[in-house]
Amino acid sequence: MKMEKKNIDWGNLGFAYMPTTTRFVANYKDGAWDEGSLTTDATVNISECAGVLQYSQSCFEGLKAYTTEDGRIVCFRPDLNAARMADTCRRLEMPVFPEDKWVEAVKKVVAANSDYVPPYGSGATLYVRPFMFASGPVIGVSPAREYQFRIFCTPVGPYFKGGVRPLTIRVSDYDRAAPHGTGHIKAGLNYAMSLHAIVEAHEQGYDENMYLDAATRTNVEETGGANFIFVTKDRKVVTPKSGSILPSITRRSLMYVAKEYLGLEAEEREVPFEEVKEFAECGLCGTAAVISPVGKIVDHGKEICLPSGMTDMGPVTKKLYDTLTGIQMGSIKAPEGWICEIG
Ligand code: PLP
Ligand code: COI
Repeated sequence: MKMEKKNIDWGNLGFAYMPTTTRFVANYKDGAWDEGSLTTDATVNISECAGVLQYSQSCFEGLKAYTTEDGRIVCFRPDLNAARMADTCRRLEMPVFPEDKWVEAVKKVVAANSDYVPPYGSGATLYVRPFMFASGPVIGVSPAREYQFRIFCTPVGPYFKGGVRPLTIRVSDYDRAAPHGTGHIKAGLNYAMSLHAIVEAHEQGYDENMYLDAATRTNVEETGGANFIFVTKDRKVVTPKSGSILPSITRRSLMYVAKEYLGLEAEEREVPFEEVKEFAECGLCGTAAVISPVGKIVDHGKEICLPSGMTDMGPVTKKLYDTLTGIQMGSIKAPEGWICEIG
């Protein structure tokens, strides 16, 4: 049965939480996950001493569901989110929710909320937020013994205000991630420690922070919520390689698209900050950010103005954007396994 879409002003959605009717919840206790189920209860009731409240033992993922031109509902590479959450859980001493069941649960939540999946062409998507936290009590510093895994979804518009206008970012004096720390996983704590830096950046009129590597402050890492892609003047796509950035699924997909769909050279390698002024285009890429063009990077008052300017996306960024979103929304043939149909 085809569900009617909700009466929502899809075109004017920002990136904000709007509770939908149904979410998934599973509990881990006595060394095992239960089967989990769909629920309409959007609240969580836990011990005051829960590991998440005391020692921030929590992690999350983010992916999107789309309505295709021919009216199907699809998700983009959820298996990679499941695998990344498993990596995150191992690093945080949290129990892995089995990856196949993880993807099944995402599909169930999206199917149950199909009336909230924005229509094709509306500019909005359904953002899916799987997350896990320590629900059991701990007072000595140790992993909890009980956990909850939940998935909710919320219809969203563009992550950055103003849609795809080029962003202005600053080089941050705060570090995001230590070498051998937790920068490569999606731990809630990585975002807690970025809040002061982002509030300060916004107060100063910047859209985001560019973090450099904490050890040497010479190489570009990423922003608070997206990886970088750069385009050289001879149209090569370059993305920073680092053990302390989140392995973005969007970035990995874009590097493939650059090579296999657009016939461009694409390299993942260290990117010295010194080289940034030589690039022709810069973008932030991630599930929420899709590809958001960067027009200006400010390093302690010294401005780097990208030749692509402050009004439009650069031409290579635009091609990458159109191809990736075309694949996600079904108008361009996807590589095998990238598109997950919601039954
Ligand atoms: N980097 C950080 C710190 C993020 O939070 C995200 C968002 O998930 C990304 C990069 C982009 O990753 P993905 O493309 O898998 O969404
Ligand atoms: C995402 O892109 O899915 C993220 O989790 C980034 C977050 C800053 C919204």
